[in-house]
Amino acid sequence: MTRIATASTNPSFGTVMSTFRLLVFSEPETARRLTTALAPFGYSLEIVSSEADALAAIHAAPPEVAIVSGALPGNAGFNLLRALRTNRATEDLPVVFVTAPGSPDQELRAFQMGAEEVVTEEASDGALRARLRVLLRFASIRRRLVNDKRRLEIRVSDRTRELLEITIATVAALEKAAEMTDQETGQHMTRVAEYSAVLALEMGMDPEFVEKIRLYAPLHDVGKVGIRHEVLKKEGVLTKQEFEEMKKHTIFGFELLTAARADPVASNIALSHHERIDGSGYPHAIKGDAIPVEARLVAVADVFDALTTRRHYKEAMHPEDAFTSICDELANRFDPMVVKAFLKRRADILDVHKRCQ
Ligand SMILES: [Fe+2]
Ligand SMILES: [Fe+2]
Repeated sequence: MTRIATASTNPSFGTVMSTFRLLVFSEPETARRLTTALAPFGYSLEIVSSEADALAAIHAAPPEVAIVSGALPGNAGFNLLRALRTNRATEDLPVVFVTAPGSPDQELRAFQMGAEEVVTEEASDGALRARLRVLLRFASIRRRLVNDKRRLEIRVSDRTRELLEITIATVAALEKAAEMTDQETGQHMTRVAEYSAVLALEMGMDPEFVEKIRLYAPLHDVGKVGIRHEVLKKEGVLTKQEFEEMKKHTIFGFELLTAARADPVASNIALSHHERIDGSGYPHAIKGDAIPVEARLVAVADVFDALTTRRHYKEAMHPEDAFTSICDELANRFDPMVVKAFLKRRADILDVHKRCQ
């Protein structure tokens, strides 16, 4: 490997120029010519005599441009060009291909293989420098674009993290509001979130969706903030009219979350967690796949937790009995796939039940 240092002053203009690094892979005679033509004009040339040396030099410190000769024995110039274009790290490195005298087919081949510029060995020094300048200008624009893109990506990712933090804080506040209006406790919210996440994972949903379900499941009853206190806290059985009013917590929750521009996963859960797979649920009596899957999951989790929790009007059901109940007498309410996942992850469900009391 030979390095040719350059003068930093352009003799033609007497001004200080920046130095551009060029890698030259050619036979010695062409290398000498290129050195004479370029070194005094602010170019620093690194001359290599094998493909392996060229690749090592490029990976160690990428030059601004590689100049590759087509006159090297064994098609070595084309081999290097192919190696550069098939490696992600070097695919954008600008290449000037110097065609061998009397080889007109080399020009097309070099372009087809991805050379940015092709010059013949007979090209004048001035023409060679002019073409290099164009390539360097493009390379600098491309570098600027890549840097701008990177900066933008960092800003977007910062903003996304900020939004997620705001969402988590908002969800926590809404959870608190739901807790204060309902007889449910924070532990109920946590258990429903954890059961739902276990089911979503078992059903093979992608991790991002599972996390959304875990985050938003606790908001299933947030619409109860819109229900009259006398109805919400009534100790006896609700009248038909009161029950109709109570059902509206699904619509209120949906409207509240939609107005807050919450993720659709959150508003779907709030709206449809009382729908039943056979169409006998509320508020819209939709059935089957028309019920969003996130709501079908939360429906099972919510009922299991209600069954296994003590209320002032009932004792807690033993978890094993609740499993039986969900799989037998209540089975027509639920998505069979969710029930299957529920049974398969029995041990994890019981573990959450035990841990989150
Ligand atoms: Fe509900
Ligand atoms: Fe609930």
